Amino acid sequence: MPPAPMPQQQPERHPIPGVKNLVAVASGKGGVGKTTVAVNLALALVKLGHKVGLMDADVYGPNVPIMLGTLQEPQATAEKRIIPVQVAGLKMISMGLLNPGDKPMVWRGPMLHSVITQFLRSVEWGELDYLIIDLPPGTGDVQLTLIQTVAVTGAVVVTTPSTVALADVRKAIEMFRQVNVEVLGVVENMSTFKCPHCDKPIDIFGHGEGTKTAIAYGVPVLGEIEIDPRIRIGGDTGKPVAGLGESTPAAQSLYAMARAVTARLTEVSTTSSPPTVSID
Ligand SMILES: Nc1ncnc2c1ncn2[C@@H]1O[C@H](COP(=O)(O)OP(=O)(O)OP(=O)(O)O)[C@@H](O)[C@H]1O
Ligand SMILES: [Mg+2]
Repeated sequence: MPPAPMPQQQPERHPIPGVKNLVAVASGKGGVGKTTVAVNLALALVKLGHKVGLMDADVYGPNVPIMLGTLQEPQATAEKRIIPVQVAGLKMISMGLLNPGDKPMVWRGPMLHSVITQFLRSVEWGELDYLIIDLPPGTGDVQLTLIQTVAVTGAVVVTTPSTVALADVRKAIEMFRQVNVEVLGVVENMSTFKCPHCDKPIDIFGHGEGTKTAIAYGVPVLGEIEIDPRIRIGGDTGKPVAGLGESTPAAQSLYAMARAVTARLTEVSTTSSPPTVSID
């Protein structure tokens, strides 16, 4: 499916008060590891000493609460603003906490647009160095609403090395470019698998193709994350590997990616002027 058509005039984007860097984690295709990357990126940034928030904006399949092992219900202030949940040293909010359980979200079109805008504007984040947003997969309405409502500093595009995922990563890069959001770079996830028996690398979905695509599009490669059952188990059990610290072997490529992301953000913020409009 091609990216949704872009509106002629781009709406004004508002920064979120107190948030220095807003990073969207996106992918053209589902299941490539967006949430895994978003959650581990957020936790690595916490461990590296930053103030971090994580917003699960995947209205259709909010998985962040599972990966962080929490079902805490967010509280509201007297002014009816949502207070994010504190978990593993970061602030987190998810549509999944506002609608816990298995009931799927059935919002569509304009309703979805207003739910997301409301959600984005109602969370009391406080001071944050980085707010990571886990987007739903694809290049449709939700993604566009999100990136056109708030001033996203940059986008991290996640892919696997397989050809089908790569076809979609191009659409994601093009979508961000069309709406003038800086693509910080591409993360090639599930890149290689190291056989635990013989230690030989096995390229289950291929290897290096995400990197080639990034180069072809002139965007940086932010990392190659191997397939590692410990990464999957960390997510499934609510204890992502990055939360265990940089010296954890399974987390090393994730920390390298986190450092690449912060370096890119520094580069982006020194080459572009900060937004001046404040949110109402
Ligand atoms: N590098 C990895 N090594 C091992 N397992 C991984 C890795 N990355 C992701 N996974 C696993 O793959 C599955 C899909 O990952 P994840 O939910 O992060 O993808 P997603 O892109 O967010 O999916 P969706 O499009 O449904 O939101 C999960 O079970 C996750 O634990
Ligand atoms: Mg996800």
